[in-house]
Amino acid sequence: SAGAGGGGCPASGNDLQWCFSQVKGAIDEDVAEADIISTVEFNYSGDLLATGDKGGRVVIFQREQENKSHPHSRGEYNVYSTFQSHEPEFDYLKSLEIEEKINKIRWLPQQNAAHFLLSTNDKTIKLWKISERDKRAEGYNLKDEDGRLRDPFRITALRVPILKPMDLMVEASPRRIFANAHTYHINSISVNSDHETYLSADDLRINLWHLEITDRSFNIVDIKPANMEELTEVITAAEFHPHQCNVFVYSSSKGTIRLCDMRSSALCDRHSKFFEEPEDPSSRSFFSEIISSISDVKFSHSGRYMMTRDYLSVKVWDLNMESRPVETHQVHEYLRSKLCSLYENDCIFDKFECCWNGPDSAIMTGSYNNFFRMFDRNTRRDVTLEASRENSKPRASLKPRRVCPGGKRKKDEISVDSLDFNKKILHTAWHPNDNIIAVAATNNLYIFQDKVN
Ligand SMILES: *[C@@H]1O[C@H](CO)[C@@H](O)[C@H](O)[C@H]1NC(C)=O
Ligand SMILES: *[C@@H]1O[C@H](CO)[C@@H](O)[C@H](O)[C@H]1NC(C)=O
Repeated sequence: SAGAGGGGCPASGNDLQWCFSQVKGAIDEDVAEADIISTVEFNYSGDLLATGDKGGRVVIFQREQENKSHPHSRGEYNVYSTFQSHEPEFDYLKSLEIEEKINKIRWLPQQNAAHFLLSTNDKTIKLWKISERDKRAEGYNLKDEDGRLRDPFRITALRVPILKPMDLMVEASPRRIFANAHTYHINSISVNSDHETYLSADDLRINLWHLEITDRSFNIVDIKPANMEELTEVITAAEFHPHQCNVFVYSSSKGTIRLCDMRSSALCDRHSKFFEEPEDPSSRSFFSEIISSISDVKFSHSGRYMMTRDYLSVKVWDLNMESRPVETHQVHEYLRSKLCSLYENDCIFDKFECCWNGPDSAIMTGSYNNFFRMFDRNTRRDVTLEASRENSKPRASLKPRRVCPGGKRKKDEISVDSLDFNKKILHTAWHPNDNIIAVAATNNLYIFQDKVN
């Protein structure tokens, strides 16, 4: 395991230097609940970056073309499209409010000029089409330029309508709505590598959908016990394998991961692989089960490994070894002695996500105090960085931060007791090819890049 969580990143010439690039969102101290970012996702080439928020909105940023005469000003991300994806709803049968909060966004690979993405709240998944329009038809026969119908008796000559250029307009339209298939809250959606199907997972079930068919889905996992009082475990995340369209995994609140093969049976209640690390009896406590709950699972781009995030650590598993992870990285081990207060303020239930870089050589995940952590899998080095307004000057380098795990605090270290637990980094994304990362800090989206030259 690498480092004790304090961020032991010695100043080495070979380490990546991250620097500030952009920050999106208001600076205001009073953050509106609706503006809190709830998901971040690059498209497959990294030129588009989508965020979803608690207010049900989706904002898409597009990377600007690089300017050859300014080699240092690498493409910035600017707003491309903003739309309301989900609205608050009310389930009258169960007397339940359904929040508009966007839980997940997943891009579909681009197949024509338009872009498609899936967005989901707790209950309903929507397929959105985002398309551009830069021409407008003029010279209709039956209506005039502002759309009013013309009196047919006054039309004496026929004309041929022509396309006139106009300012670029980006339109988002809902193409499909996949509703009424989840009794519990949807925590994951994942597009299959066949590009035709996707899965959606809630606390107890996983459904398989065809992207074209909205009125039916196939239940592929169902862990609901006949008697709900016997419930001991829930599904926390699920994802398709990046290349094998028959394989998917799901993680559980007990810290286990099941790999399922849809070829073996229609209902994948029997897993084909079961990944679990034996518990260390010496560290058992009241909080053991809570902190071992997996909040995110992500396949590496290669498909050989998967990564899981639990409350205190991030683990890398080899798909060929079920008995234990091949790597365990401590994210913020100094919180182990604070679990009691983190339980009392509910932080212990925070769901941190994790992501891989393009070549699968580094991983990133969030922490508190607007800190986020990166682990280099080859050098075994790790670093703690901070998303903050203070060093948000263009191209300012991010200074590694260190948390003092106790005892005597060194210069430049921050003590565990002064960490701000309201500032948490749950959602991050890494550009699929470049060293560009997007980090959601409450209502702000930070974009950092590696230092060129
Ligand atoms: C590139 O930068 C130059 C100098 O600032 C500017 O004149 C030019 O319009 C820019 N080109 C593009 C494509 O933005
Ligand atoms: C991602 O978005 C960019 C920008 O519009 C587009 O050119 C690219 O084809 C998209 N990539 C994929 C694989 O969908």
